[in-house]
Amino acid sequence: MRRARQLDSENYSTDDVTPVPCAHSSENPCATALTRDYLHPLRGCSSVVEHLLAKEDVASSSLVTRSSLSPQVLARDRRTTMDKLIVALDAETRAEAISLALALRHFAGWMKIGLQLFTFEGPDVVRAVRDTGARVFLDLKLHDIPSTVGAAVASAARLDVEMLTFHLLGGTEMIRAAIAAAPSSLLLLGVTVLTSADAATLRGVGIDDDLSRQAGRLAKLGIDNGVRGLVASAHELPLLRQLCGRDVKLIVPGIRAGRDVQDQKRTMTARDALAAGADYLVIGRPVTRAPDPAAAAQKLLEEMES
Ligand code: C5P
Repeated sequence: MRRARQLDSENYSTDDVTPVPCAHSSENPCATALTRDYLHPLRGCSSVVEHLLAKEDVASSSLVTRSSLSPQVLARDRRTTMDKLIVALDAETRAEAISLALALRHFAGWMKIGLQLFTFEGPDVVRAVRDTGARVFLDLKLHDIPSTVGAAVASAARLDVEMLTFHLLGGTEMIRAAIAAAPSSLLLLGVTVLTSADAATLRGVGIDDDLSRQAGRLAKLGIDNGVRGLVASAHELPLLRQLCGRDVKLIVPGIRAGRDVQDQKRTMTARDALAAGADYLVIGRPVTRAPDPAAAAQKLLEEMES
């Protein structure tokens, strides 16, 4: 492997980088990957390494300074934006999930493993996704008797996942059991009303209240019992922010840019959801089923930053 030289005064180097394939080329390098974090030797992608090696020819000293990189590349808030983006890895197999996680690792800080993947591949897939460098949100939406939910939370915590969902509809005792079992490293997220539900869905299960009131009621139940994070539709954000204050993290699925909303009913664009107070956005199919998932994620990051 070619050796690159020291890159800047912070001693980041591409020495010993193992280039990995990504969606970019040396002519069109991965802008995200060139931010400070990705100058770390263990985190380079192949296009970054090639790009940096090419820079050696033009650098006046042996150092490639930050000022030689474009403003876009140097955007300091890119990492912060990535940390707000959770990709729903709703894949069938571990191979498919890992290939997506690798393709998207320079665009999203988090990968969400849901019921489909976890049911088929089990805890190993959590470890494999973590090994790609992503933080893991385990979306199991637990809902059972209190002791079972508490035990499941404790098991999930042993997998070093950092977010885990459970249904607030399980009620006070279940919520308390879940909270009691969660270590401080695990943000337990209460699901209010699924973004695929509408008023007719609620009526069908005997709830005559409108969606917002139901989401608000469940959120309050969660907060009163120690929940620090909620999953909710972007449309409930103003209400939930008002109810819960700034300290509670609001995680928003149902992010869409166009008309193809699939089975989601209460959608919003990434930009509007952030403006409405979301802390994290969850997006699946518009990225993972795109012809070029990395390009779709890049576009989404740009929208989030705009
Ligand atoms: O593909 P899409 O963007 O619709 O994926 C959304 C993801 O967020 C799915 O994995 C879904 O299970 C999850 N989710 C949701 N609504 C909730 C909670 C989680 O859509 N209320």
